[in-house]
Amino acid sequence: MSVISLGSLARRAAAAPEQEPLPDSYFEASPAELAERIGQAKETLGSKLVVLGHHYQRDDIIRWADFIGDSFKLARYGAGRRDADFIVFCGVHFMAESADILAAEHQSVILPNLTAGCSMADMANIHQVEEAWEHLTRASNRRIVPVTYMNSAANLKAFVGEHGGAVCTSSNARTILDWAFTQGEQVLFFPDQHLGRNTGLRMGIPLSEMAVWDPWALGGGEDPDNYRRSRILLWKGHCSVHARFTVGQIEEARRTHPGVRIVVHPECENAVVEAADDYGSTEKIVAVVNAARPGTTFGIGTEVNLVNRLAHEHPDKTIFCLDPVVCPCSTMYRIHPAYLLWVLDNLLDGRVKNRIIVPERDKQWARAALDRMLALG
Ligand code: 13P
Ligand code: SF4
Repeated sequence: MSVISLGSLARRAAAAPEQEPLPDSYFEASPAELAERIGQAKETLGSKLVVLGHHYQRDDIIRWADFIGDSFKLARYGAGRRDADFIVFCGVHFMAESADILAAEHQSVILPNLTAGCSMADMANIHQVEEAWEHLTRASNRRIVPVTYMNSAANLKAFVGEHGGAVCTSSNARTILDWAFTQGEQVLFFPDQHLGRNTGLRMGIPLSEMAVWDPWALGGGEDPDNYRRSRILLWKGHCSVHARFTVGQIEEARRTHPGVRIVVHPECENAVVEAADDYGSTEKIVAVVNAARPGTTFGIGTEVNLVNRLAHEHPDKTIFCLDPVVCPCSTMYRIHPAYLLWVLDNLLDGRVKNRIIVPERDKQWARAALDRMLALG
């Protein structure tokens, strides 16, 4: 029979947020009208407001961001802007939750469209993680350290904090895993198997010392000895956008563009990362392109809004997405200017719509897990 702590029982109560319908006028407004009204609202709200934009946001949202970055940079930046009362997070739900966990009490974090989630984050829930934890800790006589990718719900971050682990992002996964192995002998890494596997391999941990836990399979799906023996226990989750990139696409890019530099995100599967010239977080991809000489050709394996923006910003370079079939992150795309204007109009009228509030019971432990990450860098 499973033993569940009171803290985790309380964690189960989190309800899925629902987006209220917007008045038709927001969808009837032309792009130019939306832009003009967003600009005016931002000006009126002044320094009370800060707009954060993830690199995958569409151009007509990014233009309003006071700060653009990857998940790590945005978490850091949100935590540092104590002067702003309202943090409007143009990204996805788990990012806004993290901003709320790190925000001061007087600050409200707002997600313009509550349906902007992350399909990878949804591949692990608290029930499944508790079940896996119970199974794995019972089977192993070694200390297991839980590490969750930033792309996870707040209650999973809380679980990790409560069990002595930390959060990581794609830009610091190596640092956090190095640290985790100073705390214990095994790491349970969720929800992205690819980031965990790619990082472990670069640390010199062979595949024979990694096992995959499938939350939908009885007992995780592998021989119990594999879980006992392995150093990294990978959750069977993935990003559907990055799963589209293949070694075949890289070979084709090298054939059609001799000299091309291939850069991919570490959410891609290992064979793709190995076939690339470089890999890293969205921020790293931007930095690699910025630092390259004019005339360089890049084939990039990440979300297409970012790739197209880089191509537009660097007319002196040839930049294309490795996936010939456009692959936007459909949930990031749900942050449309109409939603941004709607939340700003409401702020002007004294109403805070779409506030993301992480329950207090999760906040404390989730914060511990995020603070550990921020302290490690
Ligand atoms: P970054 O932390 O690299 O911005 O990645 C976030 C993400 O969701 C990638 O799919
Ligand atoms: Fe989630 Fe993938 Fe979209 Fe990133 S690109 S937010 S991991 S679904």
